[in-house]
Amino acid sequence: MTNHDEAHILIVDDIPRNLQVLGSILSENGFGVSVASSGQGALEAIATNMPDVVLLDIQMPDMDGFDVCSRLKENPETTDLPVIFLTARTEIDDIVRGFEVGAVDYITKPFISQELLARVRTHLRLVRQNKRLHDLNKEKDEFLGIAAHDLRNPLSKIQFIAEKMAYQAESFTPELITDASEDIVHTVNGMMELISNLLDTNAIEQGHLALELNPIEIGVIIEHIVRDYDERAAKKKITLKYEESGTLPFIQADEVAIVQIFDNLISNAIKYSPTRTQVITRLIADGAFVRMEIQDEGLGMTDDDKKRLFQKFARLSAQPTGNEHSIGLGLSIVKTLVDRLGAEISVQSAVGKGTTFTVRFPIATNIE
Ligand SMILES: Nc1ncnc2c1ncn2[C@@H]1O[C@H](COP(=O)(O)OP(=O)(O)O)[C@@H](O)[C@H]1O
Ligand SMILES: [Mg+2]
Repeated sequence: MTNHDEAHILIVDDIPRNLQVLGSILSENGFGVSVASSGQGALEAIATNMPDVVLLDIQMPDMDGFDVCSRLKENPETTDLPVIFLTARTEIDDIVRGFEVGAVDYITKPFISQELLARVRTHLRLVRQNKRLHDLNKEKDEFLGIAAHDLRNPLSKIQFIAEKMAYQAESFTPELITDASEDIVHTVNGMMELISNLLDTNAIEQGHLALELNPIEIGVIIEHIVRDYDERAAKKKITLKYEESGTLPFIQADEVAIVQIFDNLISNAIKYSPTRTQVITRLIADGAFVRMEIQDEGLGMTDDDKKRLFQKFARLSAQPTGNEHSIGLGLSIVKTLVDRLGAEISVQSAVGKGTTFTVRFPIATNIE
């Protein structure tokens, strides 16, 4: 029980002996410790090097523990810093007043080291859980903000078309109605794609996506999907090729995840390539792995793009070449799934030349 990720505890007491006793219990148990021998000293120490928890003596000359704690709670920078009072007396008044000025707990002298450690650990855990919730909440807000923003544009487009149809119906020839309806269908498809990407991302993050690892014949699945994309590629005069090299062993993976990973990678290759180019998918037997390469001759990526590649809502330099939708969640989903499968993904790309994504899947080991 020595690893607390270098949690840092500040001990404040005017009696050197107390600092020593508490300090050695804590540092012997793997905590980082600093000390202050007065209220003023404590405030200065906290301002220069923020601890994770403060152990604060109540009775000190000049500024007592209640004053120090009140000051900490008034300051937004330190208001969440957990303060545990050290009290010689078990007098109920002291304890109540400690809680009133914002302490989270108290320990009575003489100290029992197991109790001290248990209380410190509990409050450290609470601080970390709070911070994690705070971060998650912030991420959710950002996520919602972007999603709402991304739904606004297509909705106002549909609104615009529908208003025109409603109020200028007489000017709509059958051809115009066909055009407008196709526009609406295309726009709605984009919103549906956004929503299913959001739901996928959410399911993965909530841990609701149960992956079932089974031996899988990946060649059959991938070749099938490539053929499914033939028509879409043909519209842009893009040639799709599929190649296998070596005898492909079974991989250990989840079929749904494989489909989703490959779907994203091949649809990107087509989406970010100009017409009259080719997209080659290769499966290569590679020792304990099967390597999958998706190579395009498309717009490529800058070095800066490569750094942000797998982040959520990362819409990078390359933009769709055929009026397709771009949401920016596909590759973040791919990365999460690849990690969950124990596979690896990497990219090679040059602006204007093209991009190759490589995924290495571990092979299944125990098949009769
Ligand atoms: N094969 C590719 N070639 C060039 N750029 C790509 C390629 N794949 C993805 N990108 C870039 O990465 C961004 C994120 O991709 P992705 O997460 O799949 O979202 P989306 O396809 O919805 O935009 C894209 O917007 C694009 O700029
Ligand atoms: Mg995509």
